[in-house]
Parts: sequence; structure tokens; C-alpha cells
Amino acid sequence: MSRAYTDSASVAQAYDRWTTDQLLERLWGEHIHLGHYGTPPRSRDFRAAKEDFVHELVRWSGFDQLAPGSRVLDVGCGIGGSARMLAHHYKLDVLGISISPAQIDRARLLTPEGQSKTCRFAVMDALALELPDQSFDAVWSVEASPHMPNKQRYADELLRVLRPGGLLSVADWNRRDPGDRPLNRREQWVMRQLLDNWSHPEFASIKSLKRNLEASAAGSGLRIDTADWTTPTLPSWIDSILEGVRRPGAILSLGANGIVQGLRESPTILMMHWAFSTGLMQFGVFRGRKPA
Ligand SMILES: C[S@@+](CC[C@H](N)C(=O)[O-])C[C@H]1O[C@@H](n2cnc3c(N)ncnc32)[C@H](O)[C@@H]1O
Repeated sequence: MSRAYTDSASVAQAYDRWTTDQLLERLWGEHIHLGHYGTPPRSRDFRAAKEDFVHELVRWSGFDQLAPGSRVLDVGCGIGGSARMLAHHYKLDVLGISISPAQIDRARLLTPEGQSKTCRFAVMDALALELPDQSFDAVWSVEASPHMPNKQRYADELLRVLRPGGLLSVADWNRRDPGDRPLNRREQWVMRQLLDNWSHPEFASIKSLKRNLEASAAGSGLRIDTADWTTPTLPSWIDSILEGVRRPGAILSLGANGIVQGLRESPTILMMHWAFSTGLMQFGVFRGRKPA
């Protein structure tokens, strides 16, 4: 079945299937994002690297300075791995939203009873958040923007619900900016696979998403800092495949379907590794404080 992006329903369906077939969760755990392996990267457990990624991004974007009980919105929350960490380790009051109903059901099931008041989940479209203006002290969004057909609207919604003085933290898979060097024919072919295989309408570049975010609060003086975390996150791609070898039970327990699914994802994962290694793709992180 094709997973090319057509509309937000195609993204929801892709994640519903990835969630109900359980392959991703059994292989990679509760976090559907890359790991952080340090600078320079060192060999380590993939799941521990994913948790480290959350702590690194928290520190880099100043979320560790938020007062306990601060309201945080996690846009594109997956099955809630980051949201639970933000609530548990940093005592924040988190709402995670995703376009995929199956992910939200799973996120609620995985959240311990004692955390269910400070870590809640809802099905919602990031491009039309059903949330009041300025209702969050901080907004967090990890690897969700590649699924957004309109990056400006995505940026506008993140900044709309953030209160003045609030913190923004975004991590994204970015393409090389066309203004720096246009894609050659081989890169164009790989790019098409990266877009169509995982329901991505388009990737932003680091420069263009920074522009989108700053334009959302135009005139307010919002400054977005960016960094390129390609190197510390790069080992994640090969680890994503090696996890299938290290935990064969995860695939075999799902029967023939698990094997077919595992084989289906591998070429895209290898192309992602190639694209991030050669500079076609970059792992961008973005932070800012909305002017008061
Ligand atoms: C690569 S996953 C990242 C999940 C999560 N941030 C994590 O780090 O584990 C992308 C997430 O974006 C969500 N997403 C994609 N398009 C969305 C939209 N229009 N509105 C809300 N969520 C969306 C997907 O459902 C999925 O949860």
C-alpha cells in the first residue's frame, strides 16, 4: 500500500498502521525519533540514546529552566515517549497531540495512572490546533514538520498557542537549502523516495523553517537560534536496522507480517542514512523565546 502523502488523513493512516502492527514500538521503544550519541558520537544503546536526545534538547532549549507545573504542548507526540519524560523528569504539565488516533490510544495506555493528570493526550491536527491563543508556557515539536504541507501554517500555530515569554523547541529533518546547492539527479531521485515512502509532503531547510518561525511573530523581535545535530544523531539510522538483528524476537513475534514490514522499511532507512551522511539532509534544531 502506498504511503505517499496526499492529505493529513494519509499521515494519520500511516501512523495508525505503524502503531497497531507494533513493529516500531517493539523494536525501537516509545520514542519515534532519532537518538543523541554525544559529540563526537559514541557507541551506545539505541533506546538510551533516544532518551538522551530528549534530555539534550531539553537542556539546549532551556526547558530545564521552566517552573514545575508549566504547561507544555507536544505537537506530533507519537505514542508519548517525550511527553512522559517531560512530565516525569521535569515535572511539567504536558498535553501531547497527534493526528493519529491509534497513537493517542496507545499513548494513553502507556501512561501510568499516577501521571495521567500531568500528561494528557488528544487527537488534533497541528495545522488547526483546537487550543486557545497563548495558552502554553512552552511548545515542543520533534520530527513532525516533515509531514506538514504548509510549514508557515505549522509555525503560525506553534507560535499562536505559545504565551509571550514562552519557550519554543523544534527538531526537524531538513533538506539542504536549494539556494546553497541545487539537488543533482541522484539526489532528486533519493529525495522522491524519502518523501513518498513515509508520507512526507516536503522537507523544509534549516534556513526556511527558521524564516517561517520568525515570520510567525513578525514585528515582535522573535529570534530563533538553530543548530545542526546531524553528527550526534547519525548513528540512529544504522542502529534502527541493527535493532532488528539484536532483537529478532521483536520481528519474529509478529509473524510473517513483521518480517515483511521490517524488510519494507530497511531501504528507506538506508537512504536516510545516505542522505544525512552526504549533506542532502540535515538534522535541524530550533529554539526561541517569544518576546513578552
Ligand atoms: C516521526 S513521528 C515523531 C513522534 C514524536 N514526536 C516522537 O518524537 O516520538 C511524527 C509525529 O507527527 C505526527 N503528525 C504528523 N502530521 C501531523 C499533523 N498534521 N498534526 C498532528 N500531528 C501530526 C504523527 O502522527 C507522529 O506522531
